[in-house]
Amino acid sequence: MPGPTARTHQADIAVVGAGAAGLYAAICAAREGARVVLVSAAPLAQTASYWAQGGLAATLAPDDSFERHLQDTERAGRDLVRRSAAEILVREAPDCVRDLQSLGVRFDADRFGGLALGLEGGHSVRRVVHAGGSATGRRVVRQLSALAVAEPRITVLEGSRARGLWRADGACRGVVCESATVLASRGVLLGTGGAAALWARTTNPPGSQGVGLVLAHAAGAALADLELLQFHPTAVIGVPGREGFLVTEAIRGEGATLHDSSGERFVDELAPRDEVSRAIEELLVGTGERSVGLDMRAIDPAHFPNVVGALREAGVDPSRELVPVAPAAHYMMGGIVTDLDGRSTVPGLYAVGEASCTGLHGANRLASNSLSECFVFARRAVVHALGAEAAAPQDPSAADIAELAAHEPPTATAQTREALWRDAGIVRRPEGLNRLSEDRHPLARLIARCALAREESRGAHLRADFPEREPSLDHRHAVVTGEDGLEWQTWH
Ligand code: SIN
Repeated sequence: MPGPTARTHQADIAVVGAGAAGLYAAICAAREGARVVLVSAAPLAQTASYWAQGGLAATLAPDDSFERHLQDTERAGRDLVRRSAAEILVREAPDCVRDLQSLGVRFDADRFGGLALGLEGGHSVRRVVHAGGSATGRRVVRQLSALAVAEPRITVLEGSRARGLWRADGACRGVVCESATVLASRGVLLGTGGAAALWARTTNPPGSQGVGLVLAHAAGAALADLELLQFHPTAVIGVPGREGFLVTEAIRGEGATLHDSSGERFVDELAPRDEVSRAIEELLVGTGERSVGLDMRAIDPAHFPNVVGALREAGVDPSRELVPVAPAAHYMMGGIVTDLDGRSTVPGLYAVGEASCTGLHGANRLASNSLSECFVFARRAVVHALGAEAAAPQDPSAADIAELAAHEPPTATAQTREALWRDAGIVRRPEGLNRLSEDRHPLARLIARCALAREESRGAHLRADFPEREPSLDHRHAVVTGEDGLEWQTWH
């Protein structure tokens, strides 16, 4: 029985994280009649999804097809995409868009009243739906948050941090949060987002430090592909108050161009992200400059009001001058290993969205596949979790609660964040990675371990000492098992 100070919530599903994946999972589960507890460290509308400027990639245009979206995803992912995951995403994303519309999300329309479709890097056709131009995350998360709060089957615990995952009989059976709040459930779903804020220069809010990965690893779940961190090419740099602010790729999709200091273009702005980031980095290293210029003077500011507004507030007028940009840590392709139903390697523990690693994104995520992924795989995970044979929730013992509640998930220090940027940035060297493998932060050490093991350059992972792709590592995922283990796996 829990100790006298523990507060226990019993539920069918405990969802940790209230970004797009967590909110949608909670709503899908409640629709099926399940009782849900949704716990969020941040106030409901302050997750990384809230800041997402990209949209949802879905095959909706008449000139698009299942094969084209699949091909673009695989091409961007550099021979590391798990085809079965990509097939599911491509097949199910259009229906998720329709479901979100039925839940009240209003996506941008074209002049005929159909969905307006945007173009982003690596996509061969227009296929990205937005809401409010570059305010997609905000619109979606706001609407889903309102629905979750109004839904009687969902108990929302805002401002509460998960401290540990509780296991009994080999399965995950609940979550212990700070103040000894206990969520006892049949299944636990982590939608805690990624870890890009571990890097000093990032587009992510400060909380994106991989807490779900740390919790899952401590509970014995396998993690994979932690070396595969995508750098977004166009984060604002050198503008006080707006350091790391993302200028969405959709703006390049509408014709914005990148220029060196003599005004020359130097890259195909709509190539996949790894290529564009790398071209910018090479140019900056060569010239010693800090930024390149993004020319969005021909772009209608009304289409991207939050980007233009934020830049103007910071003193940059993008309709008159070039915006100084450089790559910044943006999205982790790796995460908690899951199957195609969101199941981790620990029974009862599910992960979805950026916290998870299905292999969908390979070594370089195709823009806007990630928001679609949140919905497609959250729905699948809920269906699986509710259909799975699992014993009724039971309360953990007072000793279990005390032990788990005592763990405080680590917060990266400024030194760790600088170390990741320096040693696991766009170009990695063995001496830097060896240094990082001694860092105080557990996830920094695991990232270094994976990055050292991948002795090649592929997608977002660029090793100065192994500049070529190594064909024997095609479709091989670096899986972290236990404290010290690492093994290569091929997923089907
Ligand atoms: C962007 O809009 O450029 C970012 C969205 C994404 O990461 O897919």
